[in-house]
Amino acid sequence: MALDIFSLKNYVVIVTGAGGAIGGATAEVLAEAGAKVVLSDLNGDAAQAKADEITQATGQETLAIKTDVTDEAQLQDLVDATLNKFGKITALINNVGWGEYTPLWGVSTDYMVKSYILNTVSSYNLTKLCMPHLKKEPNASVTFSGSMVGITPSPEFIAYSNAKAALVNMVRSMAAMSGPEVRCNTIVIGSVDNGAATLDAGYDEAMLKRLADAFVMKRRGMPRDIAHAFNYLVSPAASWVTGIELRVDGGGSYKSKMPTSDD
Ligand SMILES: NC(=O)c1ccc[n+]([C@@H]2O[C@H](COP(=O)([O-])OP(=O)(O)OC[C@H]3O[C@@H](n4cnc5c(N)ncnc54)[C@H](O)[C@@H]3O)[C@@H](O)[C@H]2O)c1
Repeated sequence: MALDIFSLKNYVVIVTGAGGAIGGATAEVLAEAGAKVVLSDLNGDAAQAKADEITQATGQETLAIKTDVTDEAQLQDLVDATLNKFGKITALINNVGWGEYTPLWGVSTDYMVKSYILNTVSSYNLTKLCMPHLKKEPNASVTFSGSMVGITPSPEFIAYSNAKAALVNMVRSMAAMSGPEVRCNTIVIGSVDNGAATLDAGYDEAMLKRLADAFVMKRRGMPRDIAHAFNYLVSPAASWVTGIELRVDGGGSYKSKMPTSDD
């Protein structure tokens, strides 16, 4: 049956940042598809609440773990706890990331490095720890939360956009070396409603309205718009897909090359 190919029955998937908007929705959708999901977040209470909600809604076993992804010892604890509870790791979703408005010339070395560690290096470290376990599983994969700002000039987010740009090339390198056992892909995410987090990053409601109006689909994304793309990339339907950037952005990157007087 066509839909069976999206099933994640017998998959064990770690999702980082699962206490947040996109990570939470992704954990939910993967569990609906049959996976046992490990929800990891710096906010342990948010991860636990989401895990309880998912187990209640789907009947799937979950595990919630408080993890600071910038701490390598805690990443090892996350891997160990997953193996202790479920015995294997079939897929990893490196979803943690954060950035905010920064003036182009207003960023210090320390700020730039912190952004790089959070958005890029942390997922390198967790992937490295998971790789020996992933290699044992059929159709294993690692999928990363990239960003539109990492593939277009984004001077307003210089530290964050640099880190997300580096992520894309890092994932391509991982894909080149990890096949055929483990597939590695990035989802290039456009503007998605994550409640207060985007407002904290320097936007206001009027800016978000103008942003949505500029998208081909005339709205910002919802977290599940991204979660379904994760479901696809983890599933057997994507078993020949590695090293790609899957853009899910409501057409946010498209601008007509022949502007009319309305543009
Ligand atoms: N929402 C968007 O518009 C958008 C656009 C492009 C890319 N993205 C990317 O998607 C991913 C998820 O974003 P979101 O919108 O769901 O954000 P969110 O703020 O709702 O969730 C992020 C989660 O990461 C957790 N986190 C932060 N620092 C951490 C750390 N050191 N260790 C562990 N967990 C930590 C937070 O507690 C939070 O629960 C990020 O990588 C983000 O850069 C989001």
